[in-house]
Amino acid sequence: MNSGVWRLTKTNSGLKQTNVPQGWARNSGENDRKVVFHGIIIDMIKFTIITLFREAIEPYLKSSMMWKAVDKGLTEFEFVNLRDFGLGPHKSVDDTPYGGGDGMLLRCEPVFSAIESVKAKDPEAKVILPTPVGEIWNQKLAKAFAKGEFEKICCRDRSRALAQASIPPSNFSNSIHYIILCPHYEGYDERILSIVDYKISLGKYVLTGGELPALVMIDSIIRLIPGVLGGETSAEIESFSEGDNLEYPQYTRPEDFRGMKVPEVLLSGNHGEIAKWREEHSGKLT
Ligand code: ADE
Repeated sequence: MNSGVWRLTKTNSGLKQTNVPQGWARNSGENDRKVVFHGIIIDMIKFTIITLFREAIEPYLKSSMMWKAVDKGLTEFEFVNLRDFGLGPHKSVDDTPYGGGDGMLLRCEPVFSAIESVKAKDPEAKVILPTPVGEIWNQKLAKAFAKGEFEKICCRDRSRALAQASIPPSNFSNSIHYIILCPHYEGYDERILSIVDYKISLGKYVLTGGELPALVMIDSIIRLIPGVLGGETSAEIESFSEGDNLEYPQYTRPEDFRGMKVPEVLLSGNHGEIAKWREEHSGKLT
């Protein structure tokens, strides 16, 4: 089942995996992405992943916390097969670079068609391009993406590309829907950037494609949604995403393992001293 659009959604009777025919109509609830969780309204985050290699991504999204987030209705995944938008009888998505050089580049037409097919249903969806020349992904960005704080997120690339093409930028909305375009092969036609909102890099090294960065981004965003990792009291939900401390060292039984002892303070029962010790031993993410 690798073609077309595939969605994993929560329904009254459990999780549902569906193949969605191209051109499917938006039903009345399609854009309703608010989830009421313990009395607090949370924006459900939808991810549409445009890829040629769905099988490289899917197992992770169906496991553990990602699955739990879908199960709770906090997130939704959708796959779009870029090949479906390929050109000619071979559904080609890439071509050789003008000016010569090694490798193949993703062509504009399939990429634009794939993105436009998603935007036809949700014009406010934001397009993320994993690329080694993007902004380096960090916890601050993960938080901003998890909260849908688009104005705080790097829009510089898109603004510049739109300004060059004399296209006015669209208004940003509060619905949270990310389209992650996973390029493969040696790269992409630069004009693709005109339809991209954010270029994100995992670091200064080159991967073979955007699938791993997509998973890293999705994972680090989803774990910040209240209710995914627990944190289900109202206070914890309201301080949503404040948990960006690197955890303090933790220990469980036994108290003494091969001469390595649990710090005395943690056995003391003195909650004030324990909190102080933990604060002193926590790392901070920037
Ligand atoms: N694609 C290839 N390398 C990458 C990287 N380091 N970060 C994001 N996307 C990439």
